[in-house]
Amino acid sequence: MQALSTSARPLIGWGLIGAGGISDQLARALAHVPEARLVAVGSRDAAKARAFIDLPRGTEAPAGPVKAHGSYRALVEDPEVDVVYIGTPHPDHVDSMRLALEAGKAVLCEKPFTLNRREAEAAVALARRRDVFLMEAMWMRYVPAMVELRRLVAEGAIGEPVAVSADFGFSAAGLAPSHRALAPALGGGGLLDIGIYPLNFAAFVLGEITGAQADAVLGPTGVDVHTVFNLRHAGNRLSQGMCSLRATTGCHATVLGTNGRIDVSPPFYAAQQLKLARGTGPWEETPVEVIDRPWRGSRYVAQVEEVHRCLRAGRVESAVMPLDETLALMGWMDTMRAQVGLRYPGE
Ligand SMILES: NC(=O)c1ccc[n+]([C@@H]2O[C@H](COP(=O)([O-])OP(=O)(O)OC[C@H]3O[C@@H](n4cnc5c(N)ncnc54)[C@H](OP(=O)(O)O)[C@@H]3O)[C@@H](O)[C@H]2O)c1
Repeated sequence: MQALSTSARPLIGWGLIGAGGISDQLARALAHVPEARLVAVGSRDAAKARAFIDLPRGTEAPAGPVKAHGSYRALVEDPEVDVVYIGTPHPDHVDSMRLALEAGKAVLCEKPFTLNRREAEAAVALARRRDVFLMEAMWMRYVPAMVELRRLVAEGAIGEPVAVSADFGFSAAGLAPSHRALAPALGGGGLLDIGIYPLNFAAFVLGEITGAQADAVLGPTGVDVHTVFNLRHAGNRLSQGMCSLRATTGCHATVLGTNGRIDVSPPFYAAQQLKLARGTGPWEETPVEVIDRPWRGSRYVAQVEEVHRCLRAGRVESAVMPLDETLALMGWMDTMRAQVGLRYPGE
């Protein structure tokens, strides 16, 4: 892929697929990145796209005119769009990625990348064949506290990292069964929607996963509403993850090392603070260093900046969330879904 030079293209044009909730968050994040320009939104419904661009976004409103396209195809074919962001429910991701990659556009696709590893492999193969940038929107990895956490672990601040625990849960009691989080046809279920964060965090800190054991309770719509999993990582490291649509959890994460501990202040996936305890003494006698690393503007800004860095450097994937790791993690979610008996329509 050719690097996108600042002189040829001083601003990077973004087009959003899907005029929904997370696309609105991304639009707000783009307004905090001076090099980014929201160019267009594509919806299956032109009136919805128009309403989306008219949404009041306060002082964060993106500058310049934004186009409303009445189809995803029109959005990817818009010559002003450099990067296509995919903010649709999971089962749509593979089709929207294909559309955008075949149009030769760089792609940032929401998590989970796809419904399963088979779909993910198809998207990655296409991007590699076309030599086009592709990245899973695992924004958690780019927030400054996560960058600092990885740096601390790598420099041995807590000795050898040996274990991780993390949880993410919210009560979906108020949601209709047709809601994306609960409907099988929209890829509902806790593991793919929010369990992906503890899973991804464990791999981010402890590295390659070599085994997984999951248990889950399936709810009335047939998707997982409470899931626990144990992972084994290369090098005799273990992690525990939990996600719930039944109960709101503390959204904590802890990294244990042979010479200390790091508690990630909640919610861990949007961390802004770390608490580092060094040494092997009893916990009540171990001083805790508080490390503040607030994000700027919004939790989604740093991933936008990573996409820009990659495009400017001519890279086709991010070294922080490599495509092979996205594929591996999709595969582990397939494994865990098989263990708990969860299949999606068409699988
Ligand atoms: N990174 C994060 O923090 C975060 C947070 C929330 C969600 N997400 C991810 O973002 C994706 C979208 O989540 P969301 O909460 O934004 O969903 P949403 O608001 O329910 O839907 C997003 C948009 O998807 C489009 N869409 C395409 N096919 C659809 C279908 N069959 N049914 C309904 N909508 C369809 C619709 O746009 P049009 O009608 O305009 O075509 C809809 O507005 C999911 O994969 C989710 O995991 C990520």
